[in-house]
Amino acid sequence: MLTIFSLLLLFSLGLSSCSAITVQKVAADGGVHKRDVPDFVRQYAPVAYLDSTEIYFPSDIGAQINHTKPEDTNGTVLTPPAPLTLSDLDSLNAFNDSGTGVYLTSDEGIEALPSWFRGVAPEFNGTTPGIVSMAVVTVSKPNDTLDAFFFYFYAYNQGNWVFNDSALEFGDHVGDWEHNMVRFVNGTPQAVYYSQHSGGEAFTYNATVKGPDGVRPVTYVANGTHANYAIPGPHDHTIPDFNTDVGPLTDETSMGPFWDPLAAAYLYSYDNNTGVFTAYNGFDPVGWLNFNGRWGDNQLPDSAKGQVDVFGEAKYVAGPTGPNDKGLGRTNVCPDGDECDIKDSLGP
Ligand SMILES: *[C@@H]1O[C@H](CO)[C@@H](O)[C@H](O)[C@H]1NC(C)=O
Ligand SMILES: *[C@@H]1O[C@H](CO)[C@@H](O)[C@H](O)[C@H]1NC(C)=O
Ligand SMILES: *[C@@H]1O[C@H](CO)[C@@H](O)[C@H](O)[C@H]1NC(C)=O
Ligand SMILES: *[C@@H]1O[C@H](CO)[C@@H](O)[C@H](O)[C@H]1NC(C)=O
Ligand SMILES: *[C@@H]1O[C@H](CO)[C@@H](O)[C@H](O)[C@H]1NC(C)=O
Ligand SMILES: *[C@@H]1O[C@H](CO)[C@@H](O)[C@H](O)[C@H]1NC(C)=O
Ligand SMILES: *[C@@H]1O[C@H](CO)[C@@H](O)[C@H](O)[C@H]1NC(C)=O
Ligand SMILES: *[C@@H]1O[C@H](CO)[C@@H](O)[C@H](O)[C@H]1NC(C)=O
Ligand SMILES: *[C@@H]1O[C@H](CO)[C@@H](O)[C@H](O)[C@H]1NC(C)=O
Repeated sequence: MLTIFSLLLLFSLGLSSCSAITVQKVAADGGVHKRDVPDFVRQYAPVAYLDSTEIYFPSDIGAQINHTKPEDTNGTVLTPPAPLTLSDLDSLNAFNDSGTGVYLTSDEGIEALPSWFRGVAPEFNGTTPGIVSMAVVTVSKPNDTLDAFFFYFYAYNQGNWVFNDSALEFGDHVGDWEHNMVRFVNGTPQAVYYSQHSGGEAFTYNATVKGPDGVRPVTYVANGTHANYAIPGPHDHTIPDFNTDVGPLTDETSMGPFWDPLAAAYLYSYDNNTGVFTAYNGFDPVGWLNFNGRWGDNQLPDSAKGQVDVFGEAKYVAGPTGPNDKGLGRTNVCPDGDECDIKDSLGP
């Protein structure tokens, strides 16, 4: 255990010193952009422990486009003006109510569980070579505040089993966006938000578990649903924001594979007054952040083979919207309208 810990510590120090190098890059417009995300955003970026039994790993954001075709709410395949990439995904906003009725629909269908749903398991050092599955979005707020959002992407979300019964599975969807948010005042971390299903929890930075370097807060990622928790173990989430350790709808978290999402991330700032996203390095693709649609299939109709729908809870549900719909302009640490206290000690 001690050996693994020391190894992780070494790897983590290695990673953070690599990523601290600010590289000058020539942007597409020929201009040189020296700007980099503030050092404190890198310094306090969360590290993750996936569940030890996880099979749906972090996934490449851009690959989702290659494995899907856009459909409207009628299931009609849409033909955008040019091939879709992360740079022009927002061209889909020309369809179906400014894109809100557009679904990136898996080529194989959700029930086929194609192998690309499984993403990429991190290497022992926490990296996921060849893929980018995190986007960092910083938002400046009044009172010397900066919110750094860490958005994690998974190609597939396996829903929970009710009372741990695999025959009662609810809430499967293609595409999964989850996040942590670290709020800074004058560059000092104050609090960390953990997204969980329709809500989440917040803790003071001081209260959070720290990673191998003793500085970066830890998120424990739930098996299948990828909800983010501040402590490992089982978490019942039948009642949002009210975590108990047993109940009918239980997320399982544990200190499984170590994942350092910052090792491969796109980095942006967002101006809450203008609604404009800007890539820190002038290179990272921006258009996808403006896409208003869904990152997976629409909910299967009740008549579809394999669909289960009881009391409004369905087995196969619609994919989620992206980072631009996750309360970037929030006033408090929790999204506006979601009253959650910033707790100063860990626990359910
Ligand atoms: C996690 O999900 C996998 C895939 O469905 C499943 O095999 C495993 O039993 C789950 N783990 C727990 C602890 O529920
Ligand atoms: C997606 O497909 C395009 C065109 O075939 C290819 O250039 C690109 O590398 C692919 N991207 C990913 C992330 O798979
Ligand atoms: C969807 O289908 C309905 C009913 O068939 C039709 O009236 C409507 O025009 C279609 N909408 C689109 C966007 O294709
Ligand atoms: C998309 O278009 C359909 C058909 O015109 C419409 O019924 C539906 O409400 C639209 N979707 C959304 C999310 O508004
Ligand atoms: C992490 O491990 C992979 C596979 O062993 C290796 O290719 C990569 O260079 C390592 N990255 C760092 C930053 O140590
Ligand atoms: C900024 O701080 C002042 C003083 O604490 C407070 O009254 C005000 O509401 C804060 N502004 C925002 C936007 O949080
Ligand atoms: C559910 O089943 C998994 C795998 O069999 C087990 O690890 C886990 O502890 C169970 N959870 C509960 C809440 O009973
Ligand atoms: C967090 O801990 C540090 C060091 O103990 C202390 O200086 C700081 O005031 C604490 N911050 C909060 C918000 O409690
Ligand atoms: C961000 O912008 C929205 C929309 O204009 C506004 O409601 C919200 O108060 C802003 N947030 C902050 C922290 O100023």
